[in-house]
Formats: sequence, structure tokens, C-alpha cells
Amino acid sequence: MMMTLTQMATEVLTTADGREKTALSRRHAAAWVASRKGEAAAIEIGTANPPLHPARPDRPELLSPRDVPRRRPGSPAGRIALLHAVAHIELNAVDLHWDIIARFGHVPMPIGFYDDWVKCADEESKHFNLVCDCLEALGSHYGALPAHAGMWRAAEDTAEDLMGRLAVVPMVLEARGLDVTPGMIEIFRKAGAEGAVSALETIYAEEVAHVAYGSKWFHFLCGREDVDPKEVFHTLVRRYFHGALKPPFNEEKRAEAGLPPDFYWPLAEETPARDRAAT
Ligand SMILES: [Fe+2]
Ligand SMILES: [Fe+2]
Repeated sequence: MMMTLTQMATEVLTTADGREKTALSRRHAAAWVASRKGEAAAIEIGTANPPLHPARPDRPELLSPRDVPRRRPGSPAGRIALLHAVAHIELNAVDLHWDIIARFGHVPMPIGFYDDWVKCADEESKHFNLVCDCLEALGSHYGALPAHAGMWRAAEDTAEDLMGRLAVVPMVLEARGLDVTPGMIEIFRKAGAEGAVSALETIYAEEVAHVAYGSKWFHFLCGREDVDPKEVFHTLVRRYFHGALKPPFNEEKRAEAGLPPDFYWPLAEETPARDRAAT
């Protein structure tokens, strides 16, 4: 019997080792793409019972964010710590994209929804491998340092709410990546770490589409339910996301990804300069 897409997603989620998880993820993504091009038999979406938490390796040790040691990004150890944190985010992102496929198989969606998230999962898998290659070139590896626990929190909180998932994961968390990645690229450029610069530039270029897919499918669902996207976005982010959004925002890339300023500024911890000037 051929696997369904939601079964493939669940298989990735239940694979613990990072390199194994991403290799399987890339194989399943390639199989999906081949089937969609008509080069292989069609793959059904199906329904599955994904685990509430994805399988993860024994290392890294997961600590509460306040217990993860901070290192100066200007030092070699600091740059390794930064790459390690990025690897952890990418691995989490692989699971997040397969989870949205596996978790919401019961919600009827156009087939393009699956195309988009399979592509994202494939890209995150590539990102994880690129960053691991950089870590290994520096004599470290994923698992050598502690990492943030609680990255799966957003997935758990929105396990029963597809619109909430889209609002919080691609439209808040991945959009945040667009804000902070240029600064990281600068740190590695100054250090002459060309390998890390090129990995982060690939990540930066590809993440815009991930945010855009979030915005696209969020708007699709709002249209189907005839509700106001901006209002619903504010309600859902306040419900599921803990804390305010942090400026400065990368307004240019956010715009490219279909995220207008009136979506995120009202959720920020400060108001934009032009509003402050007016009061
Ligand atoms: Fe990524
Ligand atoms: Fe992403």
C-alpha cells in the first residue's frame, strides 16, 4: 500500500535524529513533487494521528530560554552558539511544516496548500543541513550545546486551530526570522565566515515565501468563512502568542510576503514612529 501524504508527514515527525529526519523529509517531498508532476502515481492526502510532540534526538539538551547561556556574537564561541540556535530553529521548522500537513488532514484544503507546505518542509530540511555543515566545519555539531525548550509551544497551542496555526507560525514566528536574519548575516560577514554567510543568505531568500504561504492560506480561510482577516489575525495572535511582537520590523520583506503593517504594528510593544509623533 502506498503511503498517504499525512502518513509521510507523521513518519518525519516520529524520526528523532536530525540528519535522518531531514533526509526522510527531502525524500518524501521529492515523492510528492514527482506525483504532482504526473511522474509517479497520485499520493492521497489521507488522515493521520501525528504525535503531539515530534521525536527529537537526545542531544541537544533542552533548557528554558533563561537558562541557555548567552555568548557574545563577536567571539568564535558566540558565532557557534548562534549557528547552533539557528540549526535548532530549522529542525523545529521541518517538524512544524509536516505537522500542519499531518495535523489538519481533516480540514478540506485545495491541493496547493499541501504543495506549499511540502516545499517549505523540504527547504527547512536543506537549511538544517546547511547550518549543520557550517557547525561541523567549525569543529562543532548540532547537539553540542543546549537549546531552547518550548519551541513546540506554538504548535501545541494551535493543534486544534488551523487559522491560529497560520497566524502564529508563518505569520509571526517565521516573519520574525525576516526581521533578524540580516543582522546575523552581518555578524558572519564581519567575521569573514563566508560559509555561514551563504547559508544564511539562502535561508533569508527562501523564508520570504514561507511567510507568504502563511498569509495566502490565512486569507483563503478568512475568505471562506467570510471574516475580516486583520481583525481575526489580531484576535488569534493575542490568544495564542505569548507576548508582544518586537520591532524593528523588516517592513520591506514583510510586504513582499503579503504582511501589511496594520497586521503587525498593533501587536507590537511600541507604536511606529509616525504615530508617536502624532500624539
Ligand atoms: Fe528555514
Ligand atoms: Fe521557514
